[in-house]
Amino acid sequence: MNRPSPEFDVVIVGSLNLDLVVRAPRQPSGGETISGSHYAEYAGGKGLNQAVAAARSGASVALVGNVGDDDAGVRLRSIVRDEGIDDTCLRTIDGVATGRALITVDDAGENSIIIVAGANAEPASAEIPSGRVVLAQLETTLEGVAAAFARARSDGAVTVLNPAPAIELTDDLLGLCDVLIPNEHEVDLLGGRRHVAERVDQLIVTLGAAGADHIEAGVTTRVGPFVVDVVDTTGAGDAFCGAFSSRLAAGDDLADALRYASAAGALATTAPGAVPSQPHRNDVERLLDRPAVG
Ligand code: RIB
Repeated sequence: MNRPSPEFDVVIVGSLNLDLVVRAPRQPSGGETISGSHYAEYAGGKGLNQAVAAARSGASVALVGNVGDDDAGVRLRSIVRDEGIDDTCLRTIDGVATGRALITVDDAGENSIIIVAGANAEPASAEIPSGRVVLAQLETTLEGVAAAFARARSDGAVTVLNPAPAIELTDDLLGLCDVLIPNEHEVDLLGGRRHVAERVDQLIVTLGAAGADHIEAGVTTRVGPFVVDVVDTTGAGDAFCGAFSSRLAAGDDLADALRYASAAGALATTAPGAVPSQPHRNDVERLLDRPAVG
């Protein structure tokens, strides 16, 4: 069957948040008050971060999602446009706040995050453009992700799910995923590596500073890691997913796309903020020229 060419390299169904970020020496315990050293607001949300990562890696990208009718929504939409990302399917929802993320980053660069979904919890556009790769996370509605993946499958696109934040998923949704990219915590919540690997073609478990494991047909291959000076890990997993999808859409084989993604994820930890730290292709390629550890 002859299919028309996809409209975009990568279509991302996902969230946009304004990230309210406090830098503190460590994470506070329950009931404890501690002093932070800095406060900043950054563009974020797993969908937007991944869209920026894919665009900065050279892909044509469309973002399907929602913002509220507030200043944060205006600010995030203008960042989407500045990054060259198509916003035709980015809705503004009247009377609803744009998503927010409250983030604490400690001296080791580790973060803890609380999200308030706001507009991300509203139904997204039913008009989804076609892409070579369709990438989603779980900060928007499951119905929207399932509908986008069903459409992607019928268009012959590759579907990539980053199941974050971690929630249990039905076998029906897992069955619509060609590639699943959880972290260790998320894969455990989904029933463990073996259980998940039996339900998707390609399982990629991100391991933070240790790189990532690629599991296909029962065989596990370690990817990376790249050693960098860590400032802030927020958005590193998003850099991995967006960069991976971009390279997959460009025709890289899986091993090359994974090595590129691992380098992009490492680079994203070297600067503060989620969207601001998403790396550009030339920086990723420079890091790729250095030998990987492991
Ligand atoms: O993955 C990092 C992102 O998680 C942050 O940008 C925050 O908005 C939350 O969605």
